[in-house]
Amino acid sequence: MRSYDKAHLLITGGAGYIGSHACIEFLNAGYDIVVIDNLCNSSQESLNRVQKITNKSLKFVYGDICDVKILKKIFSEYNFEAVIHFAGLKAVGQSVNKPIEYFNNNIIGTIHLLQVMQESNVKKIVFSSSATVYGKPEKLPIKETFPRSATNPYGRTKLIIEDMLKDICVDKLWHVALLRYFNPVGAHSSGLIGEDPRDIPNNLLPYVSQVALGKLKRLSVYGNDYPTIDGTGVRDYIHVVDLVKAHVKALEYLNAGNAGIHAWNLGVGKGYSVLQVVDAFERLNKIKVPYEITARRKGDVAECYADPTKANNELIWQTEKTLEDMMVDSWRWQVNNPTGYS
Ligand code: NAD
Ligand code: UD1
Repeated sequence: MRSYDKAHLLITGGAGYIGSHACIEFLNAGYDIVVIDNLCNSSQESLNRVQKITNKSLKFVYGDICDVKILKKIFSEYNFEAVIHFAGLKAVGQSVNKPIEYFNNNIIGTIHLLQVMQESNVKKIVFSSSATVYGKPEKLPIKETFPRSATNPYGRTKLIIEDMLKDICVDKLWHVALLRYFNPVGAHSSGLIGEDPRDIPNNLLPYVSQVALGKLKRLSVYGNDYPTIDGTGVRDYIHVVDLVKAHVKALEYLNAGNAGIHAWNLGVGKGYSVLQVVDAFERLNKIKVPYEITARRKGDVAECYADPTKANNELIWQTEKTLEDMMVDSWRWQVNNPTGYS
């Protein structure tokens, strides 16, 4: 006997950076949600704030997707209509040093999740993939049909999970969305939730914010000899709020009866260089970001940006936020929460 007969969404990793923003969009779209998160890279406080922002409540289960028992328990308690799957480890550098931890957490965790979903006859999933599956693209902008490859263990987990999801679609009842994120940045405009890296950040925007705050001394700009507008690396930065809106659209697309597997690039379709980002951040937030040019980072590509046409057309989704919004919202979150959620 189920405790809750009403349809719910299960959001794995919902306490994290992107997951917490997604909770807001799904709650506002009228869904009832259950979050499962082991808080290995997040804080439950993010979910308290989600409830404060939306004035709606959600259910939280502290648990690990590698734990089949807990998955079976919640699938027996709730009537899930779909799973939005964010849970995973995501630090590229760390994955090189701890590949087995990444394979275990990301791949085995997903296998357990799919197994319990299948047993419970829940066959709809929206998966957080990454532009990293395109490896070193030969052409730009990147289309969904481009060849895929992995350059590190983190990327390999995304490739393998995408392939597993493709294979399970031999059962025509599965409905699968692969969302390939480009560079998610920014934060909710309330300044209450945002990205809260546990260690020294690897990604550009959190690093820039912490330099501006004075927590880190200066930004290392990894190379200014790329064949780009000013020699620094170019990326497709997408506001996290635009990104999570595409998740609601992707679920609606699956709900409209579109079975099988579908991949979409989630990017703006325009690249900005590191120095353009730093300049925008300084100008809009009226704060200095000291930096120095250093050697290229191993594994970096010169330029990477999406062709988001497929998502624009099929999901009827467009990004709305500008680079300015990304810079201002990132800084508002950082200033309001200099020590993150702690
Ligand atoms: P995040 O670390 O903030 O969120 C991931 C969440 O999953 C965390 O709350 C963490 O505690 C949880 N988690 C990890 N392993 C778990 C497990 N075994 N069981 C239960 N919970 C677990 O990261 P994010 O930036 O919000 O990323 C979300 C997803 O999007 C990840 O799958 C990531 O690989 C993918 N992604 C992120 C980016 C990015 O730049 N942030 C880019 C492309 C793809
Ligand atoms: C990184 C990951 C990629 C992952 C993506 C989103 C690597 C090699 N790649 O990509 O697999 O999918 O994040 O999570 O880690 N930069 C600096 N100084 C810094 C940090 C970054 O100059 O301190 C530059 C980088 O060289 C790059 C740009 O800023 O040109 C963006 O970097 P980052 O935010 O790490 O994202 P990606 O390189 O796209």
